[in-house]
Amino acid sequence: MSASIAPSALRIPHSRIRELAEIAMTMDGVLKLYFGESNLPTPDYIKRAAQKAMADGFTFYTENAGLPSLRKGIARYYQEMHGVELDPSSEIVVTASGVQALNLGIRCVLDPGDEALVLTPAWPNGAANVAMANAKPVEVPHVLAGDRYQIDFAALESAVTPKTRLLLYTSPSNPLGWVATPDDQRKLLDFARRHNLWLMADEVYERLNYTGPKPNTPAPSILKLASRDDAVMVVQSVSKTYCMTGWRLGWLVARRDLSARATQLNEFVVSHAPSFVQRAAETALLWGEGALCDMLVRLRANRDFCLAALQKMPGVTVPKPDGAFYLFPKIAGAGDSFDFCKRLLMDAKVGLAPGVAFGAGGEGSVRICYAAEQNILQEAMSRLNAFLR
Ligand SMILES: Cc1ncc(COP(=O)(O)O)c(C=O)c1O
Repeated sequence: MSASIAPSALRIPHSRIRELAEIAMTMDGVLKLYFGESNLPTPDYIKRAAQKAMADGFTFYTENAGLPSLRKGIARYYQEMHGVELDPSSEIVVTASGVQALNLGIRCVLDPGDEALVLTPAWPNGAANVAMANAKPVEVPHVLAGDRYQIDFAALESAVTPKTRLLLYTSPSNPLGWVATPDDQRKLLDFARRHNLWLMADEVYERLNYTGPKPNTPAPSILKLASRDDAVMVVQSVSKTYCMTGWRLGWLVARRDLSARATQLNEFVVSHAPSFVQRAAETALLWGEGALCDMLVRLRANRDFCLAALQKMPGVTVPKPDGAFYLFPKIAGAGDSFDFCKRLLMDAKVGLAPGVAFGAGGEGSVRICYAAEQNILQEAMSRLNAFLR
């Protein structure tokens, strides 16, 4: 008998977005709207900062929690954006991406056999990371009330068991574009406190928010309502805000004991995020608002264009998203969303992400990433319309 892969590793489901993308990548002329990233390159001032950091010698190991200067920059960012005071030396851990922050935070609070409540439809990596910790994700879908998604607190209450340790939610949401209001957050915090759970908020889309008084007002952060002694973690990343998906830099904000443990565990995962990328992230945080504002104008126009186009298509129901860069229309006749997306890809060469990839509540819908060029979106909407008709 030859050595085999651990059954616990084999149980981690593969990404159905990736499965669709891999078919699309073998084809020519596909309009690719399946991945969650902007088509814009990283702004030049950030690239120059990375080059300068390399020239200045930022090519060595750094602290496990990240460069003190970057942690100070992150603390300043929270002060400016949310009026929240953080201690850079004990409440912030820099990670090599948002998904690594998710991994580290989850690993710190779950033992094998524990359960984690995950609000869905959601980016599959949250539930997959719970499974990677040999724990069990319990999905609780949002419900649609009118044209706004809501948290199903009754379902959350009945999903809690003595093994539940964590509640994970994403706001602004991938794929829904739903943005938690302070009132939603207050209720989530209250729920987590009552049941003695860790509350983990994935806020990586916080700057892609269309509900604020100013175009670049961030979505509300749970850190504003929670005290620093609450069992709360926030996952962040430079990927979406500054068009830096390939750079791999994020962070975790958490209660001091968790931050200390996550810092220690980081040594055994990646040790720390790349040194010069950390320096580039400092620059992005300092000087990023101008490019971000330009991107937000384009994203909002793209959202409005796609929303209007979808609303005219037969059998399509589409709530208006308040954040992120996705639309998540429900399509009559897409009961098997993977099969629907595959047919759309083969027949019309439009690549969308199947709703089934996002867990409970996702089947029957498709995710469209509208962070693309206007002409690509126009062509994609016209092909989708023709396909549906
Ligand atoms: C909800 C959500 N969280 C976290 C991430 C992670 O981003 P990154 O690992 O690129 O920092 C993503 C990326 O798609 C996401 O959609």
